[in-house]
Amino acid sequence: MSPFRITRTLPEDATDAALRADVRGGLTASPKTLPPKWFYDARGSELFEEITRLPEYYPTRAEREILVDRAGEIAAAARARTLVELGSGSSRKTRHLIDALTELDTYVPVDVSESALTQAGQALIAERPGLTVHALIADFTASLALPDSPGPRLVAFLGGTIGNLLPAERAVFLASVRALLTPGDALLLGTDLVKDEQVLVRAYDDSAGVTAAFNKNVLAVVNRELGADFDPEAFRHVASWDTGHEWIEMRLRSRTAQTVKIPALDLAVDFAAGEELRTEVSAKFREAGVRMELAAAGMELTHWWTDAAGRFALSLSTVR
Ligand code: AVJ
Repeated sequence: MSPFRITRTLPEDATDAALRADVRGGLTASPKTLPPKWFYDARGSELFEEITRLPEYYPTRAEREILVDRAGEIAAAARARTLVELGSGSSRKTRHLIDALTELDTYVPVDVSESALTQAGQALIAERPGLTVHALIADFTASLALPDSPGPRLVAFLGGTIGNLLPAERAVFLASVRALLTPGDALLLGTDLVKDEQVLVRAYDDSAGVTAAFNKNVLAVVNRELGADFDPEAFRHVASWDTGHEWIEMRLRSRTAQTVKIPALDLAVDFAAGEELRTEVSAKFREAGVRMELAAAGMELTHWWTDAAGRFALSLSTVR
């Protein structure tokens, strides 16, 4: 059997149908919203990679620091023979974990990007002979069917991407992760932490304007996929800290009153001058809150690691 398999659980046209539903729903709502998952076409993924190298954007470096320093401890606690990674992307940071998991038999990267999965998967099997890679093209917020592979399982959800889900969505998501686990399995979760407002806002509004370009890229996606006529320059990038919810919001603020046509939806959307479209929520966490949300989903937080500066955390949770 080939050590690399790829399974599509997402129908080819599912993405298109989901985008249409999200754009229609989000742009006819008040206030207007678009889900952050539509940032990540090829250009958006490139811009995100650029963001991870910005001096202001600390989460990627902080999480890598924890993975490098603690991979041995994580591996010793999890003893996984199967590693499932949700939203695996390039799998770059995961290498540290894969290297430390000496008993690892199967790696299951899950992502919506087939090209990222193929690239990362091929590179991995070349580096680690004996490892089976079974990639899943899937939306990790939808219900997942995992391939048959030996336990214990470690499910990893890194990068702080859980912060893109609203609290109610997080509860549903964590319950669905819990359903993938049996006693002895574990969840490794990356969460960005609450910190000084200035540091947070700068991480989402960098001086080079890369995050602004990333934010506006969602308009280019809607233009290309649905024939819309958004002018990205007619919107201003906004990043702000919501103290009550403890999350960063990214928005696009219309510079003028304007009407945008979306032919594929047979829709015209009016923006008032100054009206904002919310494109992302990026929640920041505290240990007590993470512990509580995991407990509510039937998991027990057993380990909590942060980088030396205390900016980001990885937690390990188990089920009984
Ligand atoms: C990839 C979801 C973790 O929320 O920090 C980066 C995406 N948005 N800059 C985040 C993002 C703006 C990022 N995540």
